[in-house]
Amino acid sequence: MTEKNKLIEQIVGRYDGEVGMLIPMMQDLQAECGYLPAEHVRCLSKRLGVPLSRLYAVVTFYSSFRLAPKGAHEVTLCLGTVCYLKGAGSISEAIIREFRVEPGGTTRDRLFSFNAVNCVGACALAPVMVVDGQYHDGVTSESALEILHSLRPAEEPAETGTKEAAT
Ligand code: FES
Repeated sequence: MTEKNKLIEQIVGRYDGEVGMLIPMMQDLQAECGYLPAEHVRCLSKRLGVPLSRLYAVVTFYSSFRLAPKGAHEVTLCLGTVCYLKGAGSISEAIIREFRVEPGGTTRDRLFSFNAVNCVGACALAPVMVVDGQYHDGVTSESALEILHSLRPAEEPAETGTKEAAT
């Protein structure tokens, strides 16, 4: 039995093979692998006898699921109504074009994972982009790209452009 099959068996076993527990099973799979590798999803689909399309419908419905490994940084762009009306759509397009990354994906060099969400609860600051938990308000396509270009791979110190205050 391959490692992949063993893992799927273990996870399915935790829930007695209950198809109704598909979401917790996929959450467990993601917790084990860091994301949902296509081969594992296919294997889970076969093991449960659930069509692959149904699994992918679940994966795309819940933004917490990811189909690609996590990047060194976590970038979330708000595409909620307020942000959208203030230009978040063009910002999203600019990011997709510049970094060839789709929402829910990770850049090829794994520099960052890109998520699009429906509101980050800071509408007064729209449009908002959150990078590693830090809110950037009133972003434009230009400033968003600038921020993303300043990100560094995990092992290198990030260039923040700000200096620590002397204490
Ligand atoms: S719509 Fe973007 S923060 Fe609420």
